[in-house]
Amino acid sequence: MIPPSEPVPPSNSASALTQFFPGGNFKEAFDEKVVLIVGGANGIGASLVELCCQNGAHVCIGDIDTTEGEALSKKCRDKWPVYWDPALPPKPPRTSFYTADITDYQAVVSLFDRAFRTYKRIDHVVVTAGSMEAGNNWFDQKLNLESVQEPPSTKDIRFQKK
Ligand SMILES: NC(=O)c1ccc[n+]([C@@H]2O[C@H](COP(=O)([O-])OP(=O)(O)OC[C@H]3O[C@@H](n4cnc5c(N)ncnc54)[C@H](O)[C@@H]3O)[C@@H](O)[C@H]2O)c1
Repeated sequence: MIPPSEPVPPSNSASALTQFFPGGNFKEAFDEKVVLIVGGANGIGASLVELCCQNGAHVCIGDIDTTEGEALSKKCRDKWPVYWDPALPPKPPRTSFYTADITDYQAVVSLFDRAFRTYKRIDHVVVTAGSMEAGNNWFDQKLNLESVQEPPSTKDIRFQKK
């Protein structure tokens, strides 16, 4: 297990434990940082993996999709190699991939453990793992500047009130 380096706030704390605002300067925000991206093999997570690597971060990818995760990890290591002064200790890899199913609590714990052992610290964690139920498309492809003026359906809100 990872030993906590600082006092851990109570788990029922109403405020967020950490907040991160990268602002406009991604290079300054990400350079040499260690980012764990859970669900980073595809989609939004994969885009973030590349954005972080491009800006100098070391990224640990955790995902259930081993094929895509390993392929992305290799792509990033090739595209953004890590250089260091040979007189200094070697830097950790640009990316590493670990298969993890986030519905399995123990798999999540061991993902954090392995990331921490590889990189000796974790600066940021982003979780984009998930999937949409088939037929439940929340993203309205037809939305445009005109249709957004129309009030949305309140069908779901009425359902909640009942
Ligand atoms: N893309 C959109 O427009 C949109 C809109 C609303 C909500 N979302 C939600 O945001 C999240 C990310 O969206 P996306 O478009 O990048 O999806 P995506 O399907 O492209 O990527 C999701 C990633 O999560 C991984 N994953 C799924 N279940 C997992 C599990 N149990 N353990 C570990 N990894 C798992 C998948 O393997 C995949 O790599 C999803 O939860 C999605 O439902 C997306």
